[in-house]
Amino acid sequence: MKLWGGRFTKETNQLVHNFNASIAFDQRFYRQDIQGSIAHTEMLEKQGIISKDERDLIIKGLSDILEDIEKGHLTISEEYEDIHSFVESQLIDKIGEAGKKLHTGRSRNDQVALDMKLYIREEINELDLLLKNLLKTIHNIMKENIETFMPGFTHLQKAQPVTLSHHMGAYFEMFKRDRSRLSDIKKRMNTSPLGSGALAGTTYPLDREFSALLLGFDSPNLNSMDGVSDRDYVLELLSSLSIIMMHLSRLSEEIIIWNSNEYQFIELDDAYSTGSSIMPQKKNPDIAELVRGKTGRVYGALMSLLTTMKGLPLAYNKDMQEDKELTFDAIDTVKGCIALSDGMLSTLKFNKDIMADSATKGFINATDAADYLVNKGVAFRDAHSIIGQLVLACIDKGVSLDKLSLEDYKAICPIFDDDIYDAISLTTCVNKRNTIGAPGKKAMAKVIELNEEYLNKEQ
Ligand code: ARG
Repeated sequence: MKLWGGRFTKETNQLVHNFNASIAFDQRFYRQDIQGSIAHTEMLEKQGIISKDERDLIIKGLSDILEDIEKGHLTISEEYEDIHSFVESQLIDKIGEAGKKLHTGRSRNDQVALDMKLYIREEINELDLLLKNLLKTIHNIMKENIETFMPGFTHLQKAQPVTLSHHMGAYFEMFKRDRSRLSDIKKRMNTSPLGSGALAGTTYPLDREFSALLLGFDSPNLNSMDGVSDRDYVLELLSSLSIIMMHLSRLSEEIIIWNSNEYQFIELDDAYSTGSSIMPQKKNPDIAELVRGKTGRVYGALMSLLTTMKGLPLAYNKDMQEDKELTFDAIDTVKGCIALSDGMLSTLKFNKDIMADSATKGFINATDAADYLVNKGVAFRDAHSIIGQLVLACIDKGVSLDKLSLEDYKAICPIFDDDIYDAISLTTCVNKRNTIGAPGKKAMAKVIELNEEYLNKEQ
């Protein structure tokens, strides 16, 4: 069962085996392990290190093992130490002598570094696709809600009116940056560790460029000690995943608030909410709460691996085996959270009247009333103070700025005229804000057009 029994005279203690083994979790990359072994075999033959017949036998054997695993004819047995030992032992059982040559010029150290890179590269593509789908959902909400008014908040207090399109546009930008961060990782990580050996390369005339090319890498990495001990790209991934979760968590928090009885801005679809076992009236935003809750677990993975790596002398140390479970868990968690957030967003109903009504309250147009005076020649600081007095008068009378009589306006400042009502209407407040990035209709239409181009680009 072991690849290294030669210098040992005793069996490994069972607890030691269990503690040391990684097969329970690294079996996840059996496909990448076989893919890497096939490329290594091609290279060994090209360099005259093994014969053509041996190459053919090994590649056929490995391909059969892959097929057998995928078809469920071969179960990965946890008696082996890791996926590398399992595949190699299966190969030797299957094809005999030639199988024993597969590991020529290779160590499990460069092998595991390779497998992890191949695996993460694929997962980044899947994460990217999920993010792109989420962006499409957000884009659709944006297109449909250019005139859905709602309050914009600072300090969770009504600040200035915006539109739902504008609000969701902020999330579009966040998830767009997340995609770009993922694609940056791919660029930087795309060097092949294969051929780094245990740490000091090998004495065989390997062609590392060739195997790198076969596996879709830009080049081999240039230092074999770095090749086996670099986990920067895993940390970069975990850091990007943490930022994605932070974004999803903020969105979830808004959904939870908007879904509350006090706000009632949205109604969650029945398929994306849950009930209470005791309170029959309840329809809870559990999905949003779970996404928010799972954020901590992804941050935890990042902190955990940073801590694992910080004390490791070069080159490979077994501590690095700890990179896997937490990374796999973080990837699975984030993939699930993106897909569920997407489903929840695309099915939820916006109560547009309630949102617009809420935007007319809370003196949300006070800045625009001040701007009105500025346009009539009053200095902004004076205008600010005049509107402050008006707000006080409104509070006193229990009315909003648009309901205050012209006499009351004029009593505080004679410059006011009846065009004030149009100047502070919700439509004016929003649609006058038309510099790029603002919620005005024209500015939003431009941004939506740019987003559309971005989504249509193949990337
Ligand atoms: N399971 C190991 C890991 O995940 C594979 C490499 C083992 N190498 C070694 N020299 N023991 O890191």
